[in-house]
Amino acid sequence: MDYKNLAESAVKAKQNALPTYSNFYVGAAVLTENNKIYTGCNIESSSYSLTICAERTAVFKAISEGERNFKAIAVSGDTEDFISPCGACRQVISDLCGEIDIVLINSSGDYIVKKTSELLPFAFGDKDLE
Ligand code: THU
Repeated sequence: MDYKNLAESAVKAKQNALPTYSNFYVGAAVLTENNKIYTGCNIESSSYSLTICAERTAVFKAISEGERNFKAIAVSGDTEDFISPCGACRQVISDLCGEIDIVLINSSGDYIVKKTSELLPFAFGDKDLE
C-alpha cells in the first residue's frame, strides 16, 4: 500500500506542534475509509501529564467530526529511526480505529507499515467489558 501522501501529511502536521517543554515535534495523519485525512500534532501543558500526543489529536479530531471508520494512521517525529506510538496511543488506536495500518516514518521521510495488533498484541478492548 502506498502511504506517501498520508506520510507527507503527517510530516507537515508537525509544523503545528506545541512541544513547549520537550521540544520534540510530532505530527500524525489519520486516513478514513472515505479517503479523508485528519491531521494532528502534540500539544503540551505545563501540567505535563495533560499533554496530548499527535496521534490522539488526529484520531479525536476525526471522531469529533463524525468519522468512525479508518484505514491507516501515520506518525512522524524528528527521529532517525522509525517513530512508534506510545502505549496510550496504541490503546486509543486499537479502541477507536481497530485493526488498521500504522505508518511509522523516520527523519528521512521513509516509512514502514505495521498493523495495530502488531504494536499492541493481546489488547484489552470492548470484548472484555461485555
Ligand atoms: N509524542 C507524540 O506526540 N507521539 C508519540 O508517538 C510519542 C510521543 C509526544 C508527547 C510529548 O509531547 C512529546 O512527544 C515527548 O514525549
